[in-house]
Amino acid sequence: MQKKVLVVGGGGRCHAIVDALSRSARVSKIYCAPGNAGIASQAECVPVPVSDTDALLDFAKTNGIDMTIVGPEASLALGIVDRFREAGLKIFGPTKAAARIESSKEYAKDLMARHDVPTAAYRTFDNFDEALAYVKAGPIPVVIKYDGLAAGKGVVVALTLKEAEDALRDMLLDEAFGKGRVVVEEFLDGPEFSFMCLVNGTKIYPLDIARDHKRAYDNDAGPNTGGMGAYSPVPFVTPEIRQTALDTIIRPVAEAMVEEGVPFTGVLYGGLILHNGTPKVIEFNARFGDPETEVVLPRLESDFYDLVEAAVEGRDFDTVWSKDSVLGVVMAAKGYPGKYGKGYSVEGLENVDGKVYHMGTAMRDGRILTVGGRVLMVLGKGTSLAKARKAAYDNVAKIDCDGLFNRTDIGAREA
Ligand code: AMP
Ligand code: GLY
Repeated sequence: MQKKVLVVGGGGRCHAIVDALSRSARVSKIYCAPGNAGIASQAECVPVPVSDTDALLDFAKTNGIDMTIVGPEASLALGIVDRFREAGLKIFGPTKAAARIESSKEYAKDLMARHDVPTAAYRTFDNFDEALAYVKAGPIPVVIKYDGLAAGKGVVVALTLKEAEDALRDMLLDEAFGKGRVVVEEFLDGPEFSFMCLVNGTKIYPLDIARDHKRAYDNDAGPNTGGMGAYSPVPFVTPEIRQTALDTIIRPVAEAMVEEGVPFTGVLYGGLILHNGTPKVIEFNARFGDPETEVVLPRLESDFYDLVEAAVEGRDFDTVWSKDSVLGVVMAAKGYPGKYGKGYSVEGLENVDGKVYHMGTAMRDGRILTVGGRVLMVLGKGTSLAKARKAAYDNVAKIDCDGLFNRTDIGAREA
């Protein structure tokens, strides 16, 4: 029977999910709530916000949805998966309790400590003076993380004691993100990569590796963002390193969560770092990465609906991947991740040779306008990373919009 799918979210990650579903022989209808101007060409957009769990549940029931796939962490933290399951509906994502692996850094760190999963040494504080004393006694650089969701802005890699002190003051005294605790963490040096695995309890369905570029500007300068570009596969992550990451990180964590009574279902995303040749955990996310999903799913040759359904039902499934490289460059509103303008007209999309995933766009009076910080993810594909990179930047050059900027060095180090 042909399936009806609801995708919850409206960014580039959801566009990539919708695009993968549109290639599935199993799927007859795709809805996306709320979607965006790009998604609208491949799915029916439903004007329901991702935080309105009641309305999403109503919609799924009324429209006979067979499977719901959740993009954003905010919906997960509100318990959308628990609610859909209680109502007997199939949904792909973690329960609210399991999503804490992302929403609480302290929970994630403690879980890793209990199960010897390799990660940076750390301590948690809610008192400014104690945190500062600990930082002063240890090495610099040091990493200061707000313990909670802070839209990717709650992490400060402090290169000086002054920066560390300022970050502690912001988070603990001035409560920049609200009342909360901070994790003070050992600084690890090395290249980072993203390992997303579909998980159902102890069953694991690994996706291919991607590499994100978190800083706003070229040469990794500027503030941290949600990600300014990505590519997949990642040459420096050899099959051996990937296997080590699976055996020492992803599997032990999945097993630990089952053992501790909070089995994980959904995408367990390891933000990993290769430190002295060994993969270690920087963070976990409980969802598809953005922009990593946009470069990984186009390389999936298996049927994406089949894969998600197998994961939800806990069945075996072998994924097949294209050998091609895919690289994507984020075009973001000038000013992002700080204050930025909206409403700029985007021209030239029809000239692009390949995929463009929309991250933050809306259609008004027949024109595509920018409405978000990250606006477009422009892709290139090729038989090598260098070719994918050239194709992506050739496509970026075809897009004309005054209000946008992009990094010019996505993938440059490895291509
Ligand atoms: P997170 O939100 O935890 O992924 O942190 C954002 C970014 O800060 C990461 O992608 C890293 O580049 C950096 N970072 C976080 N923790 C560490 C660490 N322990 N050592 C080095 N860099 C880190
Ligand atoms: N690109 C990082 C994330 O999805 O959190």
